[in-house]
Amino acid sequence: MRKANHFINVGLIIVVSTFLLRLVFGWMFQLPYGPSGEAALDTTSERLAVYMGFIRPLPASAESVAIDVMFNWHYWMISFLFALIMGLMLYSAVVFRRKEGDDTDAPHIHGNTALEIAWTVIPIVVVLGFGGYGWVELNKLITPKPNEMTIEVTAFQWGWSFNYPEEAGGPSPVRGGVMMLPEDQPVLLEMNATDVLHAFWVPEFRVKQDLVPGRTTFLRFTPTDAGDYVLRCAEICGSGHANMLAPVRVVSQAEFDEWVVEMQNREPYSTMSPEARGERIYLEGFGATGAPTCAGCHSIDGVDGSGPTWLGIYEKEGVFDDGTTYIADDEYIRNSIINPNDQIVEGFNANIMYQEYADAIEAFEAEIEGVEGDFGFDAIADLIAFMQTLEATE
Ligand code: CUA
Repeated sequence: MRKANHFINVGLIIVVSTFLLRLVFGWMFQLPYGPSGEAALDTTSERLAVYMGFIRPLPASAESVAIDVMFNWHYWMISFLFALIMGLMLYSAVVFRRKEGDDTDAPHIHGNTALEIAWTVIPIVVVLGFGGYGWVELNKLITPKPNEMTIEVTAFQWGWSFNYPEEAGGPSPVRGGVMMLPEDQPVLLEMNATDVLHAFWVPEFRVKQDLVPGRTTFLRFTPTDAGDYVLRCAEICGSGHANMLAPVRVVSQAEFDEWVVEMQNREPYSTMSPEARGERIYLEGFGATGAPTCAGCHSIDGVDGSGPTWLGIYEKEGVFDDGTTYIADDEYIRNSIINPNDQIVEGFNANIMYQEYADAIEAFEAEIEGVEGDFGFDAIADLIAFMQTLEATE
């Protein structure tokens, strides 16, 4: 065969393989846009991709389109490079294999200057091109928008809390364990971690940012589709990493405003009953300290999590890991909260529980009494009062 024909053959193989690989990637990662830029929905391949767990969730932020387009270009590049290298190699291995009875040496090749310049210059241009493209897009992502809303995000082992400093005008601060976002409102997250590295990631929003202890990191995005999403920690941060989730709700501006008013006008801690106050602390945690909520690890439905369930825990008899027994009275519970490693219940592990509750609770009590006045706030007594309401029904 003439030399030119080999080039034509291998060229065709590369072109066809590039398109086939691109189709495979499109199927595997289910690119949410068709070639026309419209969202591709409800196709058979999409249902199959959902079934096989391959689907990329549909985009739900203004930033996600640019990021998906960038992924698209990368898939084309990866498809082409794979086809180029494997196509040339497999074609050569098959077509130029040793013929029967041919024991002669292959010709010695001392390099090809034109080829070497080409395979150095082309990748440099491509890599720099993608680098410049990424730089331009990243620059857009981090540019402040004129009307952005600031939300303070605190991450801890293992949970999240959100504070809305711009909505602090009411009797109660607007904060909690649910992230509420108004649709089409650009947000700026000011993020801190209390212990180790975590990462803020809502797949539908595409953007992602680490939280680093000792420094504030920032993330900007604009949610565009009302709905319920899940915030996942995307940085391995210990045994509770996989469960470090928080609900994210994107709602209309009117619903958001309603929620803010409701949060601002919640009953003050000082006038609540100890049981109700305990339940609120159990669910919402310890104010600005960002210390983990009890609800993160202790269920109230009888199912043990990384810590024992609270259902029926009050005055329950149990066994420690050294074989001694205990009764979960007030003193035992108080000590278990402020000195978690003192006594470990059989079947659970030391160093799982947050170690700084003594300080966090003191700071939380001071914070609340600073706003509401001195009412003899004892958060642990309130938590115990709440536990006493959790009687096992059997
Ligand atoms: Cu926090 Cu993983």
